[in-house]
Amino acid sequence: MKIASIVGARPNFVKIAPLAWEIAAREGIEHTIVHTGQHYDESMSDGFFESLEIPEPDINLGVGSDGHGRQTGRIMIELEPVLEELEPDWVVTVGDVNSTAAATMVAVKLGISTAHVEAGLRSFDRSMPEEINRMVTDAISDLHFVTEQSGHDNLVREGVDPSRIHFVGNIMIDSLVRALPKARELKAWERFGLEPGGYLLVTLHRPSNVDDHEQLEGLARALASMGKRRNVLFPAHPRTRRNLENFGLGKLLSEREGVALTEPMDYITFLSLVTSARALITDSGGIQEETTYLGIPCITLRSNTERPVTVEIGTNELVTPTGDGLLAAFEKLEAGNWKKGTVPRLWDGKTAVRIIDALSGALP
Ligand code: UD1
Repeated sequence: MKIASIVGARPNFVKIAPLAWEIAAREGIEHTIVHTGQHYDESMSDGFFESLEIPEPDINLGVGSDGHGRQTGRIMIELEPVLEELEPDWVVTVGDVNSTAAATMVAVKLGISTAHVEAGLRSFDRSMPEEINRMVTDAISDLHFVTEQSGHDNLVREGVDPSRIHFVGNIMIDSLVRALPKARELKAWERFGLEPGGYLLVTLHRPSNVDDHEQLEGLARALASMGKRRNVLFPAHPRTRRNLENFGLGKLLSEREGVALTEPMDYITFLSLVTSARALITDSGGIQEETTYLGIPCITLRSNTERPVTVEIGTNELVTPTGDGLLAAFEKLEAGNWKKGTVPRLWDGKTAVRIIDALSGALP
């Protein structure tokens, strides 16, 4: 069996790693990793391959950053001849980035069977580019691997035949389970002079939070004020870093005692910091899931989530993404009123085994 896995952006690498490990442990499967090059900075891409112990991508399309249409189009143009030559039995895509939707469209039109890992998630917010990517990918993929019941229900409602949907659990948790001993041992908080359990770890990169001056300023001011009471560590995505500088907000955070603005971090370092954080403040999708697994409070600065199980039974809360909303959530956290969560079904570190079993059993 020949599998081609397509990755492009940072969260994809965490989801493809367990598949790469599982395929390597089995006989008779040829695996090709194709990196579209959507993310290309050392801190957003190469560092992840190293810290996740995934082999270098076999092919890098080197597409880079651009507007949505141009980026998606370029991925399609570059990927088509690669898939024509590889002739895989399966193209596996993960997550909801532009690379996911672009690769699925190319593969389907070449008549190659496609499987989408993390299918069916819906925020019901079509202003999010990821929501469009999720809908396009799921509408045309052959097999759907879902992480939570809502994924299954959304797909069935959209007319997907239930026999094509597999509830396999959460593949990001496979990566987390494997990396956890190393991450704990690393004690990355010491490097930043932080007390375990005492600091807030922040990531923000959604266009809705970081592309608008007023919006970003409100959040940055709230973080700066929280820094007076708790250490705040903020590894900033390149988009966020650029906007902080363009809007003249960089100094508000970088010169504030108690707040540290850093480059994005590799997977193990960041996970190490998550394990001992007092709470996460984020607009990421994956971090809502990782904190739920670890039982760490997660303040999600969004008005919706495509991962409702993290709110229903996990430690995640949706918080109005404004300075006031964030400060109110902080007070609740400091008052010790944050909910305790439980771990969702099949988030057990064995999702890749179930996916490869299903792909082997359903050979096209
Ligand atoms: C993408 C995904 C988003 C995911 C995020 C994770 C889409 C639509 N969005 O958003 O779902 O949560 O990745 O990080 O696919 N840049 C660099 N270096 C890089 C990559 C990006 O400097 O290695 C800068 C560029 O200025 C670029 C901007 O970041 O224009 C945005 O990058 P892009 O890949 O378009 O989207 P993300 O915001 O990273």
